Amino acid sequence: MPRLRLPLLLLLPVTFTISVLLFLSSSPPPPPPQPPIPCGAAPSDATAGHWVPTPSPPPPPLYSQSCPFHRNAWNCLRNGRRPVAALSWAPTRCGAIPRLDPAAFLAAARRRRIGFVGDSLSENLVVALLCALRSGDGGARKWKRRGAWRGGYFPRENVVVGYHRAVLLAKYTWQPVENSKPQSDGIMGTYRVDVDIPAEDWANITKFYDVLIFNTGHWWGPDKFPKETPLVFYRGGKPIEPPLGIFDGLKVVLKSMSSYIEREVPSTTMKLWRTQSPRHFDGGEWDHNGSCLSKRLLEEHELDSWFDPRFGGVNKEARLVNSVIQEALVGTDIQLLNLTYMSEFRADAHPAIWLGKKDAVAVWGQDCMHWCLPGVPDTWVDILAARILHYFKQGEG
Ligand SMILES: *[C@@H]1O[C@H](CO)[C@@H](O)[C@H](O)[C@H]1NC(C)=O
Ligand SMILES: *[C@@H]1O[C@H](CO)[C@@H](O)[C@H](O)[C@H]1NC(C)=O
Ligand SMILES: *[C@@H]1O[C@H](CO)[C@@H](O)[C@H](O)[C@H]1NC(C)=O
Repeated sequence: MPRLRLPLLLLLPVTFTISVLLFLSSSPPPPPPQPPIPCGAAPSDATAGHWVPTPSPPPPPLYSQSCPFHRNAWNCLRNGRRPVAALSWAPTRCGAIPRLDPAAFLAAARRRRIGFVGDSLSENLVVALLCALRSGDGGARKWKRRGAWRGGYFPRENVVVGYHRAVLLAKYTWQPVENSKPQSDGIMGTYRVDVDIPAEDWANITKFYDVLIFNTGHWWGPDKFPKETPLVFYRGGKPIEPPLGIFDGLKVVLKSMSSYIEREVPSTTMKLWRTQSPRHFDGGEWDHNGSCLSKRLLEEHELDSWFDPRFGGVNKEARLVNSVIQEALVGTDIQLLNLTYMSEFRADAHPAIWLGKKDAVAVWGQDCMHWCLPGVPDTWVDILAARILHYFKQGEG
C-alpha cells in the first residue's frame, strides 16, 4: 500500500495545477472596453465646443410654424421674423451632435414618461421637444393630466412628455396686507414661500416620470418680486428669522428642493437639472429699451464682458444663479445639464420684437430672454435626447 500512496501524493500538485488552469480558462474573459459615449451624451459635450454652420443644404427643420404645440410668442416665423441661422453645435470631443431622430427616440423611450418642472425656459425646451417628436408620430396629441401645464402623448410608442409649471419650485402663496394696517413702507402684500414644501403642480408626480428635468432661476429677481410685493421665506410653517433676502432665499430653496428630489424621486429615475438660459439685453434692461436685434453671434472673448457678474452687466444673473445651483447639487445624484455656455453665444436667436401681439413690445419691451422656435432650443433637445438615450441604453446593459 505505501508503494501506491507515494505516486498518488506526487500526482497531487499536478492535479492541482491542472484544475487551476481549467478554472482560469473557464472564468469569464475580462469585460470588453466600454463603447465610446455617443456624441452629445457626455456632459462635457454641451460645455466644450463651438457653433459651426450646418453643412449646406441644411436639413429642413423638424417642425413648422403650424406645430400645434407652439406657444405664440416664440413662433417667430409666424410672427414675421427671419429664420434663425442654421448652425450646429460642434463639441470639442466629437464632430457634431446628431440631430434628434424622432421615431427612433420614441421607440427607445417606449412606455416611458419624460417630465419637466420649472419656469418658462423649461417650457421653451419642452415646446421644441414636443414639436420635434410630433414629426415621428402623426397621432401625437395634447396631454395635460396630473397637474401638467402642457404636454404631449405619443400613442405609437405610448410615450408621455409633460411640463409642470413651478417657477420657484417651492410652494408660494400671495398674502395681501390687512386693510386696517396702514403701510408706511408701500408694501401691498407678500409672497409666502415655504422653502420645504414643493409647489403642488409637481408634488404628486415624483414617481410618475422616468426622466425628470428641473430648473428655476428666472423669477428670482426684483422684476417679478419688487419691494412692494416681496418674497418672505418660511420653514416648518414659521417665518425664517432673520428674514432672508431673495438671493439667500434662492439658495435655501435650491438646497431644500434638491434634497426633496433625492428623497422622493426613485433612484432609477433619471434626474437632470438644467442651468440658466442667458439673456441678451443689449443697451439696457428689458424695461429700458434693451434690444437684441443683431444677427451676430457673440465671440468667445466677448462672453465675460456680457455675463461675468464682476462686470455688473444687465445679463449677469445667469452665471450668478448657476453658481448656487452647482453648490446645491453637490452630493446628490441629480446631473447638471449645462446649456448656459453654448447659449451665451446666441445673441441672434431671441424673439426680440417679433412677439405676435401688437402692443407687446410697448408693454413688455423686447423679448431677449426666451428663444425662437425653431432655433437654439432644438440644439438643447439634441443634447438632452443624446443624454436620455444613453441613460436608457445603460439601464438595459
Ligand atoms: C457650465 O459650463 C461652462 C463652460 O464650460 C462653465 O464655465 C460653467 O462653470 C458651467 N456651469 C456650471 C453650473 O457647471
Ligand atoms: C396632489 O395630491 C394631493 C393628496 O393626494 C391632492 O389633494 C392634490 O389635489 C393633488 N394635486 C394635484 C395637482 O394633483
Ligand atoms: C426708450 O426709447 C424711447 C424712444 O427712443 C424713449 O422715448 C424712451 O425714453 C426710452 N425709454 C427708456 C426707459 O429709456
